[in-house]
Amino acid sequence: MKNGQIPVDVPDDVPTSARAYGWMLGGKDNYVIDRQFILDTVQGFPECVDIARQNRAFLYRAVRYLVKEAGIRQFIDMGCGLPTNNNVHQVAQRFAPDARVVYVDIDPIVLVHGRALLADNSSTIITGDMRDQSAILERDDVVRLIDFDEPVAVLFLSVVHHLLDADDPRRILRTIIDKAVPGSHLCLSQVVCDDPARGATMSRQITAAGIPWRTRTPAELDSFLDGLEPAEPGLVNLLDWRPDPFQPPLEEAPEELASYLGITETSKDLYEYGGVLRKP
Ligand SMILES: C[S@@+](CC[C@H](N)C(=O)[O-])C[C@H]1O[C@@H](n2cnc3c(N)ncnc32)[C@H](O)[C@@H]1O
Repeated sequence: MKNGQIPVDVPDDVPTSARAYGWMLGGKDNYVIDRQFILDTVQGFPECVDIARQNRAFLYRAVRYLVKEAGIRQFIDMGCGLPTNNNVHQVAQRFAPDARVVYVDIDPIVLVHGRALLADNSSTIITGDMRDQSAILERDDVVRLIDFDEPVAVLFLSVVHHLLDADDPRRILRTIIDKAVPGSHLCLSQVVCDDPARGATMSRQITAAGIPWRTRTPAELDSFLDGLEPAEPGLVNLLDWRPDPFQPPLEEAPEELASYLGITETSKDLYEYGGVLRKP
């Protein structure tokens, strides 16, 4: 019943973020349970498909900015997700062939599929939990690829909503950037809702489906980021972060979700919010 070639030992009785999000981007490595989870979620939150795709398009623009304008050559991509087109190292190395990337994801399926596509001499993928960054920083590949005497960019793209308040998201977002040298960058995004009651319903529903989730308001995300300097245009709906109609397109959305594309043109209170911040 699987849609792509998933190894048999990966559990298929609960949805996972990596597989469900990957499906919205046009990926094939997912199960019925992941697709059904998205089909259920879009009943109440039809913006999700647009939001996922807008986030992934932002990734391209943000990494390009970090390489070309901020001069970053090393990246740690927390919660990197399943490989698709224009993964971080491909974008970064298009503009700076010497760029290095460590991909981290909690879901072991990302390692299974990512090994071939995300790892080479200058990039690697590890299974790790962003809530335990000391374990991540001790990994041999991290020590080999990341030089903390040089600026680093830490990416938390569309992952901050997976951090519950009890996880202390501020600490998690700032563990590396607070120790990194000036000129390092934090790049992040999460699903936000201007209507806290709707956001709370979304959090309850997705968490009940088995994926830890906390929709926040923009102000709640902002509160984690004091002391860092946002690059223009600041922390915004990602649609408004340096839009580029000529950037490379994403893979096509699956046919079952085509009717949800474009909903955020009229529905404006649920969106992916984020940006790029520099450590002064
Ligand atoms: C919505 S996807 C985002 C993927 C990618 N960052 C992007 O923007 O395209 C969220 C990813 O975060 C991963 N994730 C969730 N909680 C995590 C944790 N505690 N540590 C590491 N990865 C996590 C999931 O497995 C999933 O692959």
